[in-house]
Amino acid sequence: MDEPILRTVNLKKSFHLGQTIYAVNDVNLVVDRGEFIVLMGPSGSGKSTLLGLLGGLDRPQSGDVILDGQRYSQLSESGLARIRRNKVGFVFQFFNLIAHFTALENVMLPMRFGGMSKKAMTERARELLVQVGLGQRQDHKPLELSGGEQQRVAIARALANQPAIVLADEPTGNLDSKTSSEIGEIFHRLNVERGQTFVVVSHDPSITRWAHRVVEMLDGRITRVYDGGMAREG
Ligand SMILES: Nc1ncnc2c1ncn2[C@@H]1O[C@H](COP(=O)(O)OP(=O)(O)OP(=O)(O)O)[C@@H](O)[C@H]1O
Ligand SMILES: [Mg+2]
Repeated sequence: MDEPILRTVNLKKSFHLGQTIYAVNDVNLVVDRGEFIVLMGPSGSGKSTLLGLLGGLDRPQSGDVILDGQRYSQLSESGLARIRRNKVGFVFQFFNLIAHFTALENVMLPMRFGGMSKKAMTERARELLVQVGLGQRQDHKPLELSGGEQQRVAIARALANQPAIVLADEPTGNLDSKTSSEIGEIFHRLNVERGQTFVVVSHDPSITRWAHRVVEMLDGRITRVYDGGMAREG
């Protein structure tokens, strides 16, 4: 058996505001290589908190995350930053692009620390923009692009360093339904063609058609796991 690409062990994160809230409460999640997971659950159930822990944006109170063999608890802050840069691709609801950079420059940004030549970075960024269907828009700045196009730039940027996993937090939360389904299809294509692993937080049940598994959270806990539309045999 292959080691899973990502695993959490009794992961806990609490916040103390007068009372203690367990935003993530004893979560054990296993994500296989090439798996597409959709994470659902009501507002406040802990989805974004969990995603932040998975991506090393935040540290837990207790428990651990193991990504591609690396235990976060054993990493220094700079070690964790390296994981965020090299192993994780983030996609957010509001795209988080740099406004005064072109699409191409936004996609190149995460590559800057990898010792690639400018020419190689440019070529790779172009290729990624073509893969998300934006070959013609590479010199546009974010405000000259539609919401769906901006999100596609953000997806290309997330793929810049060939991450072990892409973590997306409500990537279609700010898009209409047609554009949302296009984004879902891009994720699916990257999943099938490149074997890219995904954990996608969404309130939109239609994206579960592309999932191998759907994980539901409530009050910081995983309460239900079931097959998505791409469920694997066995
Ligand atoms: N920085 C913080 N300080 C205090 N409490 C927090 C913080 N971040 C999250 N929480 C609390 O943790 C719980 C889980 O929040 P989280 O943002 O993970 O939920 P969510 O499932 O992503 O919700 P939504 O669907 O609305 O995005 C909530 O009760 C929230 O108020
Ligand atoms: Mg959230």
